[in-house]
Amino acid sequence: MKRSLGARRFLYPLPVLMVGTYDENGRPDVCNVGWGGICCSEPPCVMLGLHPSRQTLANIRKTQAFTVSIPSASQEVVADYLGCVTAKVTPDKFEKSGLHAAPSECVNAPVIEEFKLTLECKVVKMEQFGSHIQVMGQIMNTLADEEILNEEGGVDIAKLDPILVDPSADTYHRVGECVGKIFHDGLAMKE
Ligand SMILES: Cc1cc2nc3c(=O)[nH]c(=O)nc-3n(C[C@H](O)[C@H](O)[C@H](O)COP(=O)(O)O)c2cc1C
Repeated sequence: MKRSLGARRFLYPLPVLMVGTYDENGRPDVCNVGWGGICCSEPPCVMLGLHPSRQTLANIRKTQAFTVSIPSASQEVVADYLGCVTAKVTPDKFEKSGLHAAPSECVNAPVIEEFKLTLECKVVKMEQFGSHIQVMGQIMNTLADEEILNEEGGVDIAKLDPILVDPSADTYHRVGECVGKIFHDGLAMKE
């Protein structure tokens, strides 16, 4: 028996994205974003849904660039802080976070030293739909700390230990164990 829950925003799992930008004075800001993900393979692109009130959106409009980092579970408190406080009210929000920023070498946006995986993006499209502005960014480069890489040079998800959101319960979670192999396990059902 299924129960209808109405038009809810329940997609699982939802990653926690840390979006890094520079304001007009070159001051870094980082914002917690749940409405986002990969939206195109070639060129590789991400899409973010940003509310017009965010300082992050004002920054992106000026710089046409941003970084997207994946925080680790051990960074859950600071990740949540960056989603509770706006640089519009707390200009030293970033300094208070205790994080450290260095300029990206390929886009006009900060790379946060403490986050172990970062996508460096330039804006290719922005469009308002409903309550949010859809910001599409092309991934120009990816930075990964060596400590999260496996022997093949890929990212080891267990070492990254990314944070996920449960949008129904408003809670943060860890990923569980691997349950299968992509483009492989389903082949067993092919005739
Ligand atoms: C878990 C979580 C997810 C969030 N997702 C989004 C989102 O997808 N889009 C958005 O505009 N704001 C989102 N927010 C709210 C912003 O992170 C928050 O308003 C932040 O203070 C904005 O900072 P800024 O004004 O310095 O950019 C989220 C907050 C949290 C805690």
